[in-house]
Amino acid sequence: MGAGRGAWGTRFGFYLAAIGSAFGLGNIWRFPYIVSENGGGAFVLLYVFLVFLLGMPLLVGELILGRSTRSGVMRAIDMVIEDHPDPEGSKLSRFKWLGVSSLFLCGIVLAYYAVISGWVLHYLSQLTVTAMTGSTFDPFSTLSSLLENGWLQVLLTSVHLLVVIVIVAKDVEEGIEKAVGYMMPVFVALLIVLAVKSLSLPSAPQAMRFLLYPDFSSLSMNSLAQAVGHVFFTLSIGFGMMVTFGSYLSERAYIPIAGFRVAAMDSFISIFAGILIFPLVMVGHQPATGPEMLFKSVPVLFNSFNGGLLFGFGFFICLYLAALGASIGLLETIVSNAREALGFRRVRAVWLSGGVCFIIALLPALSSSVFQGFDFKGKGLLEVLDGLLINWGLPVAALITSQVVLYKLSDSKKRNAFEDPDSDFHETEKIYNHWVFALRWVVSPVIGLALILQIISLF
Ligand code: PHE
Repeated sequence: MGAGRGAWGTRFGFYLAAIGSAFGLGNIWRFPYIVSENGGGAFVLLYVFLVFLLGMPLLVGELILGRSTRSGVMRAIDMVIEDHPDPEGSKLSRFKWLGVSSLFLCGIVLAYYAVISGWVLHYLSQLTVTAMTGSTFDPFSTLSSLLENGWLQVLLTSVHLLVVIVIVAKDVEEGIEKAVGYMMPVFVALLIVLAVKSLSLPSAPQAMRFLLYPDFSSLSMNSLAQAVGHVFFTLSIGFGMMVTFGSYLSERAYIPIAGFRVAAMDSFISIFAGILIFPLVMVGHQPATGPEMLFKSVPVLFNSFNGGLLFGFGFFICLYLAALGASIGLLETIVSNAREALGFRRVRAVWLSGGVCFIIALLPALSSSVFQGFDFKGKGLLEVLDGLLINWGLPVAALITSQVVLYKLSDSKKRNAFEDPDSDFHETEKIYNHWVFALRWVVSPVIGLALILQIISLF
């Protein structure tokens, strides 16, 4: 996607990029540990319900906002509020700040995403060393030595950010994102094979009961906000990224179906990650919890069968590529908005935003060493940052965008997105009405309730 406003070559290209960016550490790393913190099955049910109830309408809304303004989130919101039809028109007004909140989230998420991507890089290098020396891989000592060494984390984080910066600065991410898209089926196949292996463990029935049996008494005041936040994080909603993606969509693309497919694929992958991980969590010496869960549990499987290390290597390569795809999407969103709104040159915008992300990343990278003493209600710095961003920041940002789409974008533009030029399907009016109903009467009240419950739980 170059300087001008590009377009997706094919419909398939859009799906690859949208699903590729939705699919990331959120599905494989974050979903299982959030589920375990919230007691299992009931939370999974709540999450799936919210994917379709909130996630899908919001995803469709962001794509429509992008396509009808042909702009990134800052200029799009500004144009719609000011009722300004020309994307290249006058200077941005004070409303541009509404979109800035999304970009701010992109920057912070990229920073802490880079830290976890650094962990993945570390595992890849340690798996290589283990394979070369013929020893067994010990995930517990691999992780604890990394966590104790804050500067190693800073180094790995900067390696990841540098890779992302170089790719986005050279404007070659289209190729990389395609590669990430093509790697996804491989990753899904790998997940399925590993999940089947994991299901053959003696702990599997107990794990499946935990994951799939809804025990509503295990939900807490915070669970709704955690579920809402995770739905937004995993579907990349509230970051302004889907607005940018929508701005590259052709007039012929049928947005509602696109929203449904992205949401369905993404939650399917998360559930598979859960099926893979939970039997392993329950088999370990000490059940893993928190952000370390994936890194401690899945490698246990790699030691348990012949050729397991090779699978392990494949798993972490795919995970890294997924993280890379998401990181590129995040930086690209910041850069394209900065260029549109501030007129920055590409390379300058990339290095500047990448540099700011690096500075922010120092906090999570040093959270388990220099800032180890930090404790808020039993949570470390990384988890507190994660919670602030995802459970507070994202719902607010998504709410702002959805209200702009609902009340400021003209009816004809919205309705237009529900006409499918390639079919004589007559239900479009009905689907449109359902969508507006969901945005007006479901999305805002549920987000509001989640935030209120979360505030109450603080006291
Ligand atoms: N959706 C990604 C995930 O699940 C995270 C992400 C958010 C990526 C926003 C890009 C933009 O990991």
